Amino acid sequence: MDDYLNMIKELPEGVPNYPGKESQHMGIDVQKLDVRFDIDKLKEALNFILTQADIDRMDQIGLTHIAGLYKDKWHQSCGSLIYDYRSVNGDPNNRTKVKKSYVATENDFPEIIEEIKSTYFYNVYKTLSTEFKIGRMRIMRMKPWTCLTWHHDSSKRLHIPIISNPGNRLVINTTCHQLIADGSVYLVDTTQDHSAFNGGLEDRYNLLITLRE
Ligand SMILES: [Fe+2]
Repeated sequence: MDDYLNMIKELPEGVPNYPGKESQHMGIDVQKLDVRFDIDKLKEALNFILTQADIDRMDQIGLTHIAGLYKDKWHQSCGSLIYDYRSVNGDPNNRTKVKKSYVATENDFPEIIEEIKSTYFYNVYKTLSTEFKIGRMRIMRMKPWTCLTWHHDSSKRLHIPIISNPGNRLVINTTCHQLIADGSVYLVDTTQDHSAFNGGLEDRYNLLITLRE
């Protein structure tokens, strides 16, 4: 037991194992931008969107859509652009990855959904558009006790946590990060292998912005 206590004492400062504090050694995979948005206004915008679109359908709501196409506008941009995940023989616990017949790109969702333009998310979009080429913009919900498949994406992402809890982590390669829901914006190199998990008891909501090449 003494050895164990000594080992804990020797942990370097900044090890991200305590709630509410972000990783001190983010490195090049996760960079916190200089800009910070108003977290109360982000929450207000989120609450409004949740009254407009069905988050339960995919745990995602799209805020951008295909130019001129309004059918299913809230979900056109949701999910993987490359793969569908289908259950095998109707078994929800046995799923397989199937490549889509048409693979869209991040360039294919250039229009902001009209209802978004009256929300704070539009300010976020306009502000970040001055620095980045923005593709899809989505609300992502992660339910408690869930994680993402281990994967990598074709481009980097901006993450803006809106509702979080101490059990949320982003894992890139072998490094674990905690992103804080205080209006901060994180540029994440999701072209590296990664996953995320919600080990808390409440839903997690992020605003996710995919960058175009
Ligand atoms: Fe990803």
